[in-house]
Amino acid sequence: MARHILVVGGTGMLSELVKALAGDGGRLSLLSRRASVVAGADGFDCDYYDEAAFTGALEAAVARSGPVDLAVTWFHTLKIPASRLLAERVQGRLFQVLGSAAVDPAHPGRLQAAARVADGLPHCAVRQVVLGFKVEARGSRWLTNSEISQGVLEAVRADRTSSTIGQTEPWSARP
Ligand SMILES: NC(=O)c1ccc[n+]([C@@H]2O[C@H](COP(=O)([O-])OP(=O)(O)OC[C@H]3O[C@@H](n4cnc5c(N)ncnc54)[C@H](OP(=O)(O)O)[C@@H]3O)[C@@H](O)[C@H]2O)c1
Repeated sequence: MARHILVVGGTGMLSELVKALAGDGGRLSLLSRRASVVAGADGFDCDYYDEAAFTGALEAAVARSGPVDLAVTWFHTLKIPASRLLAERVQGRLFQVLGSAAVDPAHPGRLQAAARVADGLPHCAVRQVVLGFKVEARGSRWLTNSEISQGVLEAVRADRTSSTIGQTEPWSARP
């Protein structure tokens, strides 16, 4: 069991995941603009585009609950200081939730680029969960929030290094 779990972006599609993790018994910190509205966790309101605010929220979470040994992040982009700032605080596993664009064949190497947030950080082990789509009889569709939360939870519980919820191939079949 992780002693301090920290989730970035846990108030939307990852809400169900957050509820499940809250039942695990460790300390749970949430970072997002409205994180403090969530019951059952320590919420630290911050905008991840605001480096100073994000750093302050991270420091407050670590001061309250200790080093982060499990992080789950849903950032709209990793090209911001926040993703590295968080990796620097992780003493365990960092699960990156990534949109399907991370595996767009027109832009190879995005998964590897995402994992570079932990370059030179021996105590931060990156795991990646890619959000795909579902192909059904009537066509393809994006994942529901529940499928996303359940899929990320499964990846965390099974400690999958790299996984996809739904599918991303064939790329031409995406909704
Ligand atoms: N492949 C797929 O199937 C796929 C991929 C991506 C998205 N989607 C779908 O698209 C929908 C919309 O995606 P979404 O990104 O809006 O997901 P979301 O998870 O519903 O909302 C975004 C999350 O990030 C936080 N957030 C956003 N901007 C932030 C900022 N500047 N600073 C700090 N936290 C921030 C939000 O919290 P606060 O509001 O508290 O800041 C919220 O927790 C999702 O519901 C999902 O179903 C599907």
